[in-house]
Amino acid sequence: MNTSSSTFSIPQGVTAMVAVASGKGGVGKSTTAACLARELHGLGKATGLLDVDILGPSISTMTSAYTLTSQKDTDNAVTLTPPIIEGVKVASAGMLQASHKASILRGPMASRFALELLSSVSWGKLDYLILDYPPGTGDIPLSLAQHLTNAYACIVTTPQRLAYQEAEKTIDMFQQLSVPIAGIIETMSYFEPKPDERYYLFGKDGGKHLAQKYSLPLLGQIPFAISCQKIADGGMILKNQGGDHLEVVQAYRQASENMISSMEPSEHDPSSLSLKWSASLSTPP
Ligand SMILES: Nc1ncnc2c1ncn2[C@@H]1O[C@H](COP(=O)(O)OP(=O)(O)OP(=O)(O)O)[C@@H](O)[C@H]1O
Ligand SMILES: [Mg+2]
Repeated sequence: MNTSSSTFSIPQGVTAMVAVASGKGGVGKSTTAACLARELHGLGKATGLLDVDILGPSISTMTSAYTLTSQKDTDNAVTLTPPIIEGVKVASAGMLQASHKASILRGPMASRFALELLSSVSWGKLDYLILDYPPGTGDIPLSLAQHLTNAYACIVTTPQRLAYQEAEKTIDMFQQLSVPIAGIIETMSYFEPKPDERYYLFGKDGGKHLAQKYSLPLLGQIPFAISCQKIADGGMILKNQGGDHLEVVQAYRQASENMISSMEPSEHDPSSLSLKWSASLSTPP
């Protein structure tokens, strides 16, 4: 990749990007990004998954994607070809570094690296490119958001106050930059070991209240499933899985359908996200 360049071309063949973001770390962004990509593909959409969490990439581990083939053209520009895993094109910063090596990059370098990765991968034609975003509103997420066009945000939070309070700052960041928010996904909402036995491990409905407060769609409330972690650690997240993970799969399928409808243009609805997005294109931040 050409890390000296200061201009970045947003992938031409990509209809819409969705930045899966959060306020707090560890709330399930990477899991959500991968599951949304899997379900969007299942719904017949051409989908890519890009891990732009440069300092803490996890998509390569969760999907077993380790090879990003690079080619130089006559101008010495590098094109990266992503592996296609279970029908989803996957690229992650984790595929470019040894898993035990720390990414020692300062903010501007890391943001540049993320944008280079986005623009150097040959995505081809995609309906959706899902971005696994870094947490918070620091240098990297902010610089990335400033460069994103044809993008929406999807905010992830657990029901816990600590998580949804931080998510408010992320909502504010995207709103200030006129990046429309497709909705909120509440993760680890409850644990149901048996039917009619439900435990609210991290509190109840925090994401739902956040959605109400900001008049945003609540795209889904995802149950806690023990197998979720095994599947992610085993690099199998893009495969459809059974067991207690089936409930998670179903919840993400519904969330993906909700997200698609939330982003669909509606001629009659002035609050339509797509209309807001076209309007924001004419007034860049
Ligand atoms: N629905 C779920 N049920 C059980 N465990 C889950 C669920 N969703 C995510 N997890 C687990 O929670 C942990 C954090 O998830 P994940 O890595 O997706 O969060 P993240 O927001 O991307 O974290 P980071 O900010 O560090 O990138 C992981 O161990 C993951 O396997
Ligand atoms: Mg992550």
